[in-house]
Amino acid sequence: MENPNRYEIAWLPGDGIGPEVTREALRVLDAVASAHGFAFTAEEHLMGGAALDETGVPFPDDTRAACQESDAVLLGAVGGPKWDDTTGDQRPESGLLALRKALGVYANLRPIRVPEALASASPLRPDRVGGADILFVRELTGGIYFGTPEGRTDDGARSTMVYTEAEIERIAHVAFQRAQRRDGHVTSVDKANVLEVSELWREVVSEVQDEYPDVMLRHLYIDNAAMQVVRDPQQFDVVLTGNLFGDILSDLAAALPGSLGLLPSASVGGTVGLFEPVHGSAPDIAGENTANPIGTLLSAALLLDELGEPDAADAVRYGVDAALEAGFHTSDLAPNDEAVSTSTFGREVASRAADHTHQNASASLS
Ligand code: IPM
Ligand code: MG
Repeated sequence: MENPNRYEIAWLPGDGIGPEVTREALRVLDAVASAHGFAFTAEEHLMGGAALDETGVPFPDDTRAACQESDAVLLGAVGGPKWDDTTGDQRPESGLLALRKALGVYANLRPIRVPEALASASPLRPDRVGGADILFVRELTGGIYFGTPEGRTDDGARSTMVYTEAEIERIAHVAFQRAQRRDGHVTSVDKANVLEVSELWREVVSEVQDEYPDVMLRHLYIDNAAMQVVRDPQQFDVVLTGNLFGDILSDLAAALPGSLGLLPSASVGGTVGLFEPVHGSAPDIAGENTANPIGTLLSAALLLDELGEPDAADAVRYGVDAALEAGFHTSDLAPNDEAVSTSTFGREVASRAADHTHQNASASLS
């Protein structure tokens, strides 16, 4: 193909299972690239605990610069018990927050789907969760994670929840626009019966909705929303919420498909997109080649969508579904003696994703 699109991906494997799962994502990207007319480089950079050990800080300046200059950032996971004693800016997690802030990625998209085929792996009743399909739109660079003042006081500590109207407005637009491409329904989640910041949230979201008459909006309090997500997840389409509530609700909803390992995320809206699985570094299984790479593979699909390569993204998603349907499951989804390794699963996805591409290409030629 002439003049293929060329993308520079900043690859931040991070800690724990991060290196294993991101390696599979690069394998799958490689499998679909040339057939879809693009090429990419993946330059590795230090992040999180790995960066702390090597350089003394969790988010080194050259990692920051490389991310800012890249077309997309692919991240594994950060943190682990080894760094439990670190505090403040030294924590691997604070490196991740600094990365999100540096890229300005205020919109965190966390799609959660429970394919009927996996509904039996859910801890909840399969008939309740099967077919659930929710997009969490979590505000990512504001709220209590970044509010000031913060820190220790003489006799306590404080964290402040702040949202400006502009911050609420821009994330609300993201949610309504996504809903237009889905089932046209937004549930905004807050705690407006207690928090002033949530009162403002509710007002601004309702105002923004005026611009989207084709989208339905309802407001739920966070406590009720948590119950509803477990009780009847099929009632949700897009869930719009702030940083802290979105953090909690998206982990809660991750229990629906039965494994946190399945879930991808995309953080967008800034200069460069950041793509990472929802799960953490899983130190208990790190280095064992048993982790489920699906969350990262689907994050790579979101990365392709964002770069304007939707067909390649579909090929990756097809590869994941086809490998699952062919009976390949990692140990979070199958008994140990039937489970395949991280890298076997990645290879099975890669070959199916590549085949899908070729099948589609020959169909369009004939
Ligand atoms: C997440 C994680 C992070 C967060 C941590 C690691 C800082 O839980 O991406 O949901 O709270 O945002
Ligand atoms: Mg979280």
